[in-house]
Amino acid sequence: MPSLLIYAATALVTYIAYVQLFALFQTVVRKAPPVASNSWWAFLRGKSVPGSVLIEQFYEKYSKNNEAFMAGGHYVLPPSVFAAIRKIPDKMANSTPANEDGLVLEPFLGHDNTDIIHLVRTDITRSVDAMIAPLKDEIHTTLSLHFLPPSTPASLLSGDEEEWYPLTVHPSTLTAIGRITTRILVGKKYTTLPAWTDTLAGFANGIIIQSFLLKNLWRPIVPLIAPLFNTTRRVAKLRALILPDVRALLANPPTPGTYPDGEPTVLPMMVNYVLSRPGYAEAKEATVLTGVIGRLLDLSFAAVDTTTITLTHCIHDLVSHAPSLYADPILEQARAVLAGNNGVWTTQALSSLPLLDSFIKESQRLHPIGQLLSQRKVLDPKGVTLMPSEGFEGAKPVHLPFGAVTQMPLHGIHMDAGVYEEPGEFKGFRFAGDKVASSQPTDRFMSFGHGKHACPGRHLALVVVKLFLLEFLERFKYREVERPRDWQLGFMFNAVPDMKTNIWIRPRREEGEVEVEVGA
Ligand code: HEM
Repeated sequence: MPSLLIYAATALVTYIAYVQLFALFQTVVRKAPPVASNSWWAFLRGKSVPGSVLIEQFYEKYSKNNEAFMAGGHYVLPPSVFAAIRKIPDKMANSTPANEDGLVLEPFLGHDNTDIIHLVRTDITRSVDAMIAPLKDEIHTTLSLHFLPPSTPASLLSGDEEEWYPLTVHPSTLTAIGRITTRILVGKKYTTLPAWTDTLAGFANGIIIQSFLLKNLWRPIVPLIAPLFNTTRRVAKLRALILPDVRALLANPPTPGTYPDGEPTVLPMMVNYVLSRPGYAEAKEATVLTGVIGRLLDLSFAAVDTTTITLTHCIHDLVSHAPSLYADPILEQARAVLAGNNGVWTTQALSSLPLLDSFIKESQRLHPIGQLLSQRKVLDPKGVTLMPSEGFEGAKPVHLPFGAVTQMPLHGIHMDAGVYEEPGEFKGFRFAGDKVASSQPTDRFMSFGHGKHACPGRHLALVVVKLFLLEFLERFKYREVERPRDWQLGFMFNAVPDMKTNIWIRPRREEGEVEVEVGA
C-alpha cells in the first residue's frame, strides 16, 4: 500500500511538472497563448483552484478579449472565431482524430472503429420512435432492480415519520444505463446477462479514467502496455459473448429495417453498415468481426458514460429542490401531454415538454460532461487561421499550428453573466419560455458540443433521459437533500458527479399517486 501511494504521488508530481514545463515552453519558445494552470507555488501552498475556476478566470481575461488560451495542452477558442471553427472543412480540422488522441481507444478496439457518426445520424436516429417501447420496458425493470432493490432496508430519518430507502445515484444509473443501452444495442436477451451488462458498463466507465494515464504517453508504447489494462479483458469478454450472433448475422445479413423480434437493434444495423464500408465486403471474417464489434463498443462508450453522467446530475438537481418547485409541475405537464397523446409516448409527444426540456438543459448547463468540449484536431500541414466574425471589435485571427487541438470554452460561456442572468444559480425553468427549450447545440449552449460534429446521439439520449426521469418521478417520492457536490481535481478540466453520497427515496403511496411495491 505505501508503495502504491509513492507511485501515485510520483505520478502526480510528474504530471504537474509536465504541465508547468509545457506552460513555460508554450509561452517562451512557441510564443503560444497563455496557459490556464495552477502554479507550483499554488500547489505547494495548498492554494490551487479547480479547473472550472481556471476556465472562468481565463475566459474573463482572454476569451472575452477575443484571444485564445491554452488548457490541458489544447487551444481554447474565443467567441470571435466560433463561426469560423464551425465552418471549417473536416479535412482541415476534425473531431475524430482529436477524440482518438484524448481517449486512446485504438489499441483496444482496432484502428477502424471511428466512422459510426453516419450510422447514428441516419439509421439510429430514424429508429428512435420505434425504440421507445423497449426503452420504457427496460427503464421500468432497471428502476425496480437498481433503484429500489427488494433487499434495501428502509430507515427512519430524524424529523421524519416516513421510512426512506437509500440510493447512491451514480452507480445505480450506470448499471441501469448499461442495461438500457444493451437492449437497444444488441437486444433483450443480453439484458439478463450480467456478464454482458456489467462488463459493458465497466468498459464505458473505465475508458475515461484510463485515458488520463494513456493520453500523455508516447503512442508507440501504448499497444505494449494495453494488455495490462482492464479494458483489454473487458473487450475480450464482450467480444466472446457477442461473437456467435455477429457470425450468424454475417452469414445471413438481415434485410435493412427488419429485426428478428420486431425491435430495432443496433447490431443488425451495424453489420449492414460495416459490410457497406469500403473494403469490408471482400475482407476476411476476422477483419469484419473486429470492424463490427469495435464500432459497437465505440458506440456504447459514446452512449453509456455520457448518458449516465447527465442522468445522475438531473436526479441530483431534482432531489435538491422541493418537489413543488420542479418535480410536481414537470410531472403534471407530462401527464397532460401523455393523456393528450392517447397514453403513448412518441418522440413528438416527448418534445412537447418545455418544463422537462428546460430542467434537463439547465442541469446540463451547470453540469456538462466536460468543462471544455468539442475537440477538433488541425490536420492541414500548413495549420489553419480562423478569421473573426463581424461584430467582434478589434478581434484578430487565431492561428493554429498543424496538430493543434481546439476546444470550446463551454464552462466560460455557460457561466458568463452577459449570456445568462445569474449564471451560478440553478433555475430549472430558465429555458421554459424559449422557442426551443430543449438542449440544441448553439454558441450559448454546448453540453452536446458545437457545430457539425455536435453529438449525433442527442435525440436518442434525450429520449432516454426524459423517459427515465418521468418514470422515476411517477414511481418514487424523494426527500429533499443538499445537492451532492460534483467531484473535481485541481489539475483537470472535468467534473464528475458525486458517486458516493446517498439520497433518499420511497415508493409513492399517497392518494392519486401511482402505488408501487418495492422491487416490483
Ligand atoms: C446525454 C448523453 C450524451 C451527451 C451529453 C453527449 C455529448 C457529446 C459531446 C459533447 C460530443 C462532442 C461533440 C463535439 O465534438 O462538438 C459528442 C459526440 C458524439 N456522441 Fe454524444 N453525447 C451523449 C449521448 C450519445 C449517444 C446516446 C450516442 C449514440 C447513440 C452518442 C454518440 C456520439 C458520437 C458518435 C459522437 C461523435 C460525433 C462527431 O465527432 O461527429 N452520444 N457527444
